[in-house]
Amino acid sequence: GGRSAAGGMPRIKMVLLGDSGVGKSCLVLRFVRGQFDPSSKVTVGAAFMSHPVALPDSSTVKFEIWDTAGQERYASLAPLYYRGASAAAIVYDITSKESFAKAKHWVKELQKNASQEIVIVLVGNKSDLEQDRDVSAEEAKAYAEENGMEHVEASAKTAHNVSEIFESIAAHLP
Ligand code: GTP
Ligand code: MG
Repeated sequence: GGRSAAGGMPRIKMVLLGDSGVGKSCLVLRFVRGQFDPSSKVTVGAAFMSHPVALPDSSTVKFEIWDTAGQERYASLAPLYYRGASAAAIVYDITSKESFAKAKHWVKELQKNASQEIVIVLVGNKSDLEQDRDVSAEEAKAYAEENGMEHVEASAKTAHNVSEIFESIAAHLP
């Protein structure tokens, strides 16, 4: 199953994937610390954070989050983080069609190489930049549905829907 309980609180190993600059590290920082860093540095290799979350059913789970580096030069490291993960957030930027194409590439790669049971959420970040939108919510939602994933539009900047990403994952784990 997706939850392992050795040594206390059930744990969920999760990975974030997506193009450089879509806001993966900012989403994690918002979720874990409730902060936003407008001058966030590109991630080198990967970063790890863990965070306990109280679920609507009043149980608690601990997310063990691998925040991967989106720059192309790190692409070959990704399998180290998604292998054995029970959940993945594949992140794109709603103002960038290119980042959405990249997200689709990650979906295919996980379908081919990750656990068959992995729970994937497709996340359109930067929902605060509606005026610059380049990926329609309808298109992304339809793509997510075809591929058996949830779709969430969120903003690390305003905190809109950020905890919903993690709650959705917890709700879909076996
Ligand atoms: P890599 O580590 O290179 O893979 O990039 P990343 O996906 O981790 O991007 P990061 O979280 O560092 O965010 C890149 C920049 O996007 C940040 O410095 C912010 O300025 C901006 N950003 C992130 N999230 C948001 C958001 O929700 N809204 C807006 N307007 N800007 C955001
Ligand atoms: Mg990063």
